[in-house]
Amino acid sequence: MNFQKQFDRYRKMVNDGIDKVFYKRECLQKSVYDAMTYSVKAGGKRIRPVLALAVGDMLGADLEDVLKIGVAIECIHTYSLIHDDLPCMDNDDLRRGMPTCHKKFGEATALLAGDGLLTMAFELLTDFSAFKTLSAETVLKAAQEITKAAGCAGMIGGQVVDLESEGSQDVTEETLTYMHNRKTGALIRVSVLAGAIAAGADEKKTGALIRFADGIGLAFQVQDDILDCTGNADVLGKPIGSDAENEKTTYVTLLGLDNARTKAEELTQNAIAALECFDEKAKFLKEFAKYLMGRKN
Ligand code: IPE
Ligand code: IPE
Ligand code: MG
Ligand code: MG
Ligand code: MG
Repeated sequence: MNFQKQFDRYRKMVNDGIDKVFYKRECLQKSVYDAMTYSVKAGGKRIRPVLALAVGDMLGADLEDVLKIGVAIECIHTYSLIHDDLPCMDNDDLRRGMPTCHKKFGEATALLAGDGLLTMAFELLTDFSAFKTLSAETVLKAAQEITKAAGCAGMIGGQVVDLESEGSQDVTEETLTYMHNRKTGALIRVSVLAGAIAAGADEKKTGALIRFADGIGLAFQVQDDILDCTGNADVLGKPIGSDAENEKTTYVTLLGLDNARTKAEELTQNAIAALECFDEKAKFLKEFAKYLMGRKN
């Protein structure tokens, strides 16, 4: 199967998995469900659950089970976007080509929709009986890694450093890398790790996959910084120039556009090289790294 077909197949699995969890609910708190559903179904590339599926597939895990974990990760990712767009954070009006959650539903509902998505992720992950092949112990191991990746040592931590660095002239490359590895890298890394855990991968394979994930995770945020300056809002589905408006230090402000591009390319090449031990079996993941590099949205 060629890369695009395989990607579409994984993405369809993710969207079908999301449809099973997010549907219209009639209850007094329906507004929060509506806001969660709006944001999670607004689109999105689904790269995190697709990564989990691709790794699980390569290593022979049950894909229905990996999908459940992937959907939970996509819930956490979508919550992070809703909160990231709030006026108290990046204050953006457009996300996934649609008005941001707070623009559509108001700030309080958007805040709660983010909380709802985060909580939903753990409701899904702790429904151990829903997993066909994975033991409760294995699911719990994945859940614990996801908790760490989403928490203050991971994504939230990166967001804190990001906000506290706004307007500062002396953010070093070391701090920027620290921040990007957490705010974006952590969820990408745990998506790959979840696929490996579901497949019962050994230490050597897991180590290689983590090196791959860390490379593409950082390259992904460098590319995000580049697209914030050079992209097209209609294609990107989010505003251009948000970073400059918020006086963020990014790879582009620190290194310049050309060096930022070189950095992303080097990281991608190193990530691909980390997969050598999987030979041909890693073809999709290698192509995926290149796709992320060349993306326009
Ligand atoms: C955007 O992530 C936020 C970052 C971590 C850079 P994505 O680019 O994966 O956003 P969606 O899910 O496709 O909308
Ligand atoms: C946000 O980084 C990463 C998370 C949401 C955790 P950005 O603020 O650069 O993401 P975009 O550009 O708004 O998608
Ligand atoms: Mg941000
Ligand atoms: Mg933002
Ligand atoms: Mg950005």
